[in-house]
Amino acid sequence: AIDPQFHENRDQIDEHEGHTVWGPVDEPEELGIHGTHVAVDFDLCIADGACLEDCPVDVFEWVETPGHPESEEKADPANEAQCIDCMLCVDVCPVDAIDVDAG
Ligand code: SF4
Ligand code: F3S
Ligand code: ZN
Repeated sequence: AIDPQFHENRDQIDEHEGHTVWGPVDEPEELGIHGTHVAVDFDLCIADGACLEDCPVDVFEWVETPGHPESEEKADPANEAQCIDCMLCVDVCPVDAIDVDAG
């Protein structure tokens, strides 16, 4: 499962589409965590798609990640600022790749 303490245990190493990327990153095999309020561990995501289907405010968008061992696309929290903290995505992800900091 995604480390809920990732803010403390990882470093902000990049930005992607307006959100933070938390390392380590070693493309294409290691991609880190995308997002902060809505955080997706790209190294755990298997492209199940439940988060995209269920999010009521369309926070997630697919991004292509060719060469990653788990899946060749990932659910990117492209619109994390729209999140309403319903926690549905956290509940439906089969590999617990998502952390939402509802405060
Ligand atoms: Fe979408 Fe709810 Fe997940 Fe926020 S907590 S990203 S609103 S499904
Ligand atoms: Fe990935 Fe979990 Fe969504 S596997 S596509 S983050 S439901
Ligand atoms: Zn991203």
